[in-house]
Amino acid sequence: MEVIIQPGPDDASALAARIVAQRIAQKPHAVLGLATGRTPLGLYEELVRLHREEGLDFDRASSFNLDEYVGLAPGHPASYRAFMEEHLFSKINIPPERAHVPSGRTEDIPSECDAYEKKIAAAGGIDVQVLGIGVEGHIGFNEPTSSLASRTRIKTLTDETRQENAAFFGGAEKVPHHVITMGIGTIMESRTCLLLAFGKKKVEPIARTVEGPITAMVPASILQMHPDAKIILDEEAAAGLSRRDYYKMVYRGKPDWQQY
Ligand code: F6R
Repeated sequence: MEVIIQPGPDDASALAARIVAQRIAQKPHAVLGLATGRTPLGLYEELVRLHREEGLDFDRASSFNLDEYVGLAPGHPASYRAFMEEHLFSKINIPPERAHVPSGRTEDIPSECDAYEKKIAAAGGIDVQVLGIGVEGHIGFNEPTSSLASRTRIKTLTDETRQENAAFFGGAEKVPHHVITMGIGTIMESRTCLLLAFGKKKVEPIARTVEGPITAMVPASILQMHPDAKIILDEEAAAGLSRRDYYKMVYRGKPDWQQY
């Protein structure tokens, strides 16, 4: 794992955007894995800026979102499809037919999940997967005790996750119980994982993910087994890490050819 600690969320988001932009520059047909929620908003703003001001070109890229709620009405403002359209897809030049979000309105969820896995494979696999982390350590919507080998499937949200997302729905009772999410096995096949976490709420899940044992009770901890996982934090989220000074020293000492 590479743990990168930045002063605040803006610096951390800009750094993550540089990593995504570098990958697209090296491989214009890169496949991006995308997350929703509060955490990646700064990253998406910066990608939009790089597109508008510096010519970052998504024309040959594709994307696959991690997850979607089951059963929301078409165009529901809290759906992850609507979120992505608002914050990213409508502001860059990614071709709409290559910007994928699981369909939470399908009649046949297992077939939708299977087809989603096949589409990722047909696109050549995910090059860079953006991740946030839940307060109990979920990635995607793989809640604690999810199989560490799981594939895209339906999951039931914990009460904690529904509470965390209540603001998007105007009340926890309105948050759907079910979601479709990429599995942990699916996420682990991405070539690079970028996990972003900001603020005090993420202190405990980050400490357990980075310095605790690998356990299905903290799904993000499986990233310790990933060959290229970058954990990009602000100072607040890094506050519970015992080796903070070491991570900073490593980052400061990176040779030029490894800079982002
Ligand atoms: C969203 C997702 C979730 C969120 C996580 C953190 O697509 O997969 O894992 O990344 O719940 O959410 P925020 O960023 O709102 O704290």
